[in-house]
Amino acid sequence: MTTQLTTSNLNSSPTGSEVVGVQPPSNFPDEATLSRLASEFFAALPSSGSGHPSGLNLDLPNVGTPPHPPQPAERLAALSGRVPNIAYEKSLNPEYPEHIPNYPDYPERRAIASAPVVGGANLPKPPLEPTFPQAVHSAPNVPLVEPTHPPIRDASPFYFLNDFAAPNTSSSEFDAARFATAQSFQLPQGDGLKSLLQDEPKIQSQPAHNASSGFYFLDIPSTHQAYGNYQPSQPQFLASSAQPLDVHAIRRDFPILQERVNGRPLVWFDNAATTQKPQTVIDRIAYFYQHENSNIHRAAHELAARATDAYEHARNVTARFIGAKSSKEIIFVRGTTEGINLIAKTWGEQNIGEGDEIIVSHLEHHANIVPWFQLTKKVGAKLRVIPVDDTGQIILAELPKLINERTKLISITQVSNALGTVTPVPEVIQIAHAKGVRVLVDGAQSVSHMPTDVQALDADFFVFSGHKVFGPTGIGAVYAKPELLESMPVWEGGGNMIEDVTFEQVIYQPAPNKFEAGTGNIANAVGLGAALEYVERIGIHNIARYEHDLLEYGQHALSGVKGLRPIGTAKNKASVMSFILDGYSTEQVGKALNQHSIAVRSGHHCAQPILRRFGVEQTVRPSLAFYNTPEEIDLLVSVLHQLSRNKRTV
Ligand code: ALA
Repeated sequence: MTTQLTTSNLNSSPTGSEVVGVQPPSNFPDEATLSRLASEFFAALPSSGSGHPSGLNLDLPNVGTPPHPPQPAERLAALSGRVPNIAYEKSLNPEYPEHIPNYPDYPERRAIASAPVVGGANLPKPPLEPTFPQAVHSAPNVPLVEPTHPPIRDASPFYFLNDFAAPNTSSSEFDAARFATAQSFQLPQGDGLKSLLQDEPKIQSQPAHNASSGFYFLDIPSTHQAYGNYQPSQPQFLASSAQPLDVHAIRRDFPILQERVNGRPLVWFDNAATTQKPQTVIDRIAYFYQHENSNIHRAAHELAARATDAYEHARNVTARFIGAKSSKEIIFVRGTTEGINLIAKTWGEQNIGEGDEIIVSHLEHHANIVPWFQLTKKVGAKLRVIPVDDTGQIILAELPKLINERTKLISITQVSNALGTVTPVPEVIQIAHAKGVRVLVDGAQSVSHMPTDVQALDADFFVFSGHKVFGPTGIGAVYAKPELLESMPVWEGGGNMIEDVTFEQVIYQPAPNKFEAGTGNIANAVGLGAALEYVERIGIHNIARYEHDLLEYGQHALSGVKGLRPIGTAKNKASVMSFILDGYSTEQVGKALNQHSIAVRSGHHCAQPILRRFGVEQTVRPSLAFYNTPEEIDLLVSVLHQLSRNKRTV
């Protein structure tokens, strides 16, 4: 019934081998018609069925299993007809509209207004009712648990599930207060996670942590071998108004999460290395290339204007996302590494000289060590290091002792990529500024996990990468205070940054353009803007709350694995659960996890000094994002239990 609809059959023999040079008959439908028919065909397929999370009936003959249904021939119709998997911004995040400053430099254009800045995957919903696996954290000899990817409640387009009905989003009288309820995230209340944890003998004997808070997480005995010293924490950025996330609805926005590896559903626990991209970002980049692609010289022609507007819109969104006052404070760069290098080679070379000192912490990624190391070698300055305690938190009391009259800069990460430690950046900045020292905050690992407000922080510089916050690779941003940007020298020279050039003199444009020589990564900047808007719609406070609970759950679960030593047990952490496992190299653990379709990074994570502080060269590093689930953690932990058991019987 279906074979005539598949374009692949046009040039295929009945056996599937290619027939070269055979033309379709003249009355055969053209490609656009075929594409439309195919689209109608896929749309008519049952949206639920057995087996495959895509919802496609894979048993149909010759239909094939495309990763996604084909798009209608009319691209614009396809984009505008796509139902976003996220609620309207007013409903989703009551704070969102107030956070949009009315930038005078924001170009209002029809091209942007019609662009698919809000989207969502066009993926069919998974067919099954939510099922949660049995407890596997400590019980020996339990079979491995496959994550079940429970589906979404059809009735609600919202990610946030409360007991009351979803508001009518078309109403202008939406009452934000109705959504302002403090709840834990969307985990089963009765037979779910709570009871899973109660299955754990060690846990049963423990009193519930703050039973009235609605959280399920229990204190772990401090003698416990792993993650033993940490207490469930509640960092300041966890707003009490955070909403529970419908993580399974969110997962539908990320097509790659439907991917299978080694025949099993992908579990993406390598978020500290890079995050996956929602369909809205993929669509936005495609839209750019389909409708806007040009270099960014606004006045030249229509597409140039569209591309310029799209690029500058992304800059506005970036400024808003990190709390900058103006988009003029945002320089697009390739990522955090290039951003720190830019600052080192401009402000650094201008302001740091022989005998001066730069302070970094022991936690830093190589990207926040090497540029400063190079600068100190070049100008004869000195690098000093804030030590960390045995949990992996910086020892703040040591900082004032490191600062002296030669200290020019403190460059510090907000979240450690290797340990997950959330550093006390506000306090660091206060201490630094009291002594007249500038502070650079490396936000590469923080922007996707917690709210960023560079003005509230009073950060002098803030740097992050787009690909760590659900945006494309090869794009990131530098924020700097306007007075710094004004006085900083340019670093690269070329086109796009120029006011006037003669052979005698060059006049540069003002910031940020003077730091963006040459043609930038325009499409990916636009994609970054779409990613940040996507995060805004879900709400970074909601994400922080969900991830905090998920991390507590994960660390607790890992603590039951015999022979597992966590690396990094600070009270305030985000995303990262680094560990080593007795009897295995980190590579062996990574490979074993990969066989179960679990992606983690194992290695030194470009942060060798901090790993050596803990006496190791490498760790296994699962790192979480807001699309991860407790079921996925259960699978991770069950594989580790199995490895641990096998080792003990060898
Ligand atoms: N900085 C990235 C990581 O931590 C690459 O894995």
